[in-house]
Amino acid sequence: MHSLGILLSGRGSNFVAIADSIDAGRIVGARIAVVISNKADAPGIATARERGLHAVVIPSKGRSREQHDREVVDALKQHNVDLICLAGYMRLLSPWFVQQFTRQILNIHPSLLPAFPGLEAQEQAFAYGVKVSGCTVHFVDEELDHGPIIVQRTIPVLDVDDEHTLRARILEQEHIAYTEAINIVLQGNFQIAGRRFKKK
Ligand code: GRF
Repeated sequence: MHSLGILLSGRGSNFVAIADSIDAGRIVGARIAVVISNKADAPGIATARERGLHAVVIPSKGRSREQHDREVVDALKQHNVDLICLAGYMRLLSPWFVQQFTRQILNIHPSLLPAFPGLEAQEQAFAYGVKVSGCTVHFVDEELDHGPIIVQRTIPVLDVDDEHTLRARILEQEHIAYTEAINIVLQGNFQIAGRRFKKK
């Protein structure tokens, strides 16, 4: 049984999608061991508590990145986490953090990377005028929104779209993509050559 650790800072809809997938048997052989937020008022942490999961707030405010990362890593190790899912975690992980969990940290980003990394990716894509967008689940490395890509899902950008409708349609795909990526990674039959992630 794999133990997942979820890191979030806000709403937590991707966390809920993962939790629902586990409950519904769409993700097998895994449980959520701990949900960690760097913000006490993150709606996602309240949801985690309501669902009876271990929910921990480790505030980042007023702490150095190193100090905060050390506390988060301690909590993840305490819960024997073997896969970490960043789900709207608004913090850049230190290289030290990433090295503690080689190829065990996933992130979801609401654009087709390498286009539009960073904040407000959907708005960036909309303003740029792209005709196709989507989301990316990738391994986390030392750079922002950068590691090897596991899953991408695309959607057309429609003439009738605005930033809000585009954001909502990408989010629907995010929820599907995260489950897909977690299953692929947990099954373990993949290889990574350079940046290329391939199923064996
Ligand atoms: C999602 O759009 C995700 O791709 C990005 O942050 C947002 C988090 O949303 N990294 P939620 O908290 O999972 O609802």
